[in-house]
Amino acid sequence: MKRIVVLISGRGRNLQALIRACADGRVAGRVARVIANRADAAGLTYARAAGVPTQVISHRDYADRESFDRALLAAVSAEEPAAVVLAGFMRILTPVFVAPLQGRLLNIHPSLLPRYPGLDTHARALAAGDREHGATVHFVTEALDAGAAIIQGALRVRPDDSADTLARRVLEEIELRIYPQAVAWLLSGELQWRGGAWFRGRLLTQPLTLDALDPAFRS
Ligand code: GRF
Repeated sequence: MKRIVVLISGRGRNLQALIRACADGRVAGRVARVIANRADAAGLTYARAAGVPTQVISHRDYADRESFDRALLAAVSAEEPAAVVLAGFMRILTPVFVAPLQGRLLNIHPSLLPRYPGLDTHARALAAGDREHGATVHFVTEALDAGAAIIQGALRVRPDDSADTLARRVLEEIELRIYPQAVAWLLSGELQWRGGAWFRGRLLTQPLTLDALDPAFRS
């Protein structure tokens, strides 16, 4: 069974969706380890309840980014994972960590990249008056939130949306669907990294959309 390592910093709602997708067979793998950079990451509680080994590697215990990334890489690599999934992981990773994992390292960003890399994406989309907003799953490369996009889901911004209501809808309607699907495609071999994102034998020059979701990932 192929192994997945998930890195979290917070509630781990994407982690929960991925564990469920593995349990019901939609993802041909299992979450072998959950690593958090904070002991108070609520997602750790969920992982433990699901019987998934957990580990905390606190960036405060390391003198600099590179030494933290080396410790994190050692813990991740020990699982020999087919996929390393950043799920609400709030650390900027250096090439020390990214380079050895390139092609197996995924992230989800709550915006329609390349719009709004970085933080506070929902508030920025509202402030700009965007009529649509969403989330993007991408391969992680050394540039922040700028790796090869794999799949992107969009929804219509409502006139009465706040950053909180928009964030919740993007998470529930988009993220929790596209992320497990992207991991499923990576483990099945339909999605490959060849210096760019390749899907079913062709280079993705733009991200897939919700239309590409397999039926099992649409609900
Ligand atoms: C999500 O909105 C995700 O897009 C971002 O972190 C937020 C929290 O994710 N990366 P989670 O609840 O910790 O999975």
